Amino acid sequence: MSTKPLVYDQLNRPLRDLRISVTDRCNFRCRYCMPEETFGPDYEFLPKTSLLQFEEITRLARLFVNLGVEKIRLTGGEPLLRRDLDVLVGMLSKIDGLEDIALTTNASLLKKHAVKLKNAGLTRVNVSLDAIHDDTFGKMNGRGTKIKPVLDGIQAASDAGLDVKINMVVQNGINDHEVIPMAKYFRHSGHIVRFIEYMDVGNSNGWKFDHVMSKRDIIDRISEIYPLDSVDPAYYGEVASRYQFRDGGGEIGVISSVSDSFCSSCTRARLSADGALYTCLFASRGTSLRNPMRNGATDQELQKMLTDLWNGRHDRYSDERTEETVANREKIEMSFIGG
Ligand code: GTP
Ligand code: 5AD
Ligand code: SF4
Ligand code: SF4
Repeated sequence: MSTKPLVYDQLNRPLRDLRISVTDRCNFRCRYCMPEETFGPDYEFLPKTSLLQFEEITRLARLFVNLGVEKIRLTGGEPLLRRDLDVLVGMLSKIDGLEDIALTTNASLLKKHAVKLKNAGLTRVNVSLDAIHDDTFGKMNGRGTKIKPVLDGIQAASDAGLDVKINMVVQNGINDHEVIPMAKYFRHSGHIVRFIEYMDVGNSNGWKFDHVMSKRDIIDRISEIYPLDSVDPAYYGEVASRYQFRDGGGEIGVISSVSDSFCSSCTRARLSADGALYTCLFASRGTSLRNPMRNGATDQELQKMLTDLWNGRHDRYSDERTEETVANREKIEMSFIGG
């Protein structure tokens, strides 16, 4: 456990994790995240000058670590589209007190980058993979990409010594038939699959409660074929509920933001690619740290800003989700804030 001073929010939750989006672009168009109708050829992504530079990201990360952050996760969009990401990982890995640098990626480009990232200090990779068959996967990623490059990426990361988990977003009637094949494929592989309830992030994916396959239904479906036992959380605030195959086939997780929310232990701050701080995945707006930083704010001033923002935080969107919030709340897009 850390002995560092910690900051707490209005609901007594410490700041522990920082998720940093390094780009709002992606080479996939998953319908639940970046539907082609919204994110088409004319969509205006952030211009390069708006993006935080690696030095700026590292400076902010160091200030967050001073306040108690121990884990950093790099996200996007697709973070491997950001050139020289391993250089950023190398810069972050020099921060004293930072224990874990992880990456969430679609893995389509991971094969090429895995060794460089590991050598730079990356510890873990979470790979998004929503089906194990090409037809369903191709439809879901919106680009017809087959699973082979993703599996190659997983293998390369694993060979490089990175800890790899798999994320599957489950949508009723779209890919729920892939739940058992995914569980079967990754049993005994050493990779944990986390089945994720489809969430109402952003305003473009046409989310409805009916589209969600709940934690209960996911567990029931898998246990019919492969009996499961629940396992205690590995640490405070872990997002996934853990289960193990009774026959020793390994472990799975379920992330149930909709049917069984976990806001009461949410220790995550989010930094967008253009340097705004969001205190919830479902926030309507963030607070720019880039602007004060580019206007000459000192480390002390920035750290005070972070402390005040976290101290004032009372977000608990998933605890409060109703038809009303789903329909009427203006929310940032997932591709902008990285999940
Ligand atoms: P680990 O450190 O490996 O446990 O990573 P993680 O599960 O926190 O991160 P990952 O990027 O793999 O996210 C998996 C799923 O959990 C995605 O669908 C995220 O959007 C979701 N998720 C992560 N953090 C939160 C959160 O604070 N709130 C909600 N509602 N969902 C979250
Ligand atoms: N609901 C749940 N998970 C989502 N992700 C993206 N959009 C959604 C959504 N609407 C997942 C991605 C990735 C992680 C960062 O978030 O598949 O694994
Ligand atoms: Fe890209 Fe990931 Fe969003 Fe799919 S879920 S469009 S891979 S950022
Ligand atoms: Fe944290 Fe917001 Fe997710 Fe709740 S909905 S767990 S407060 S990010």
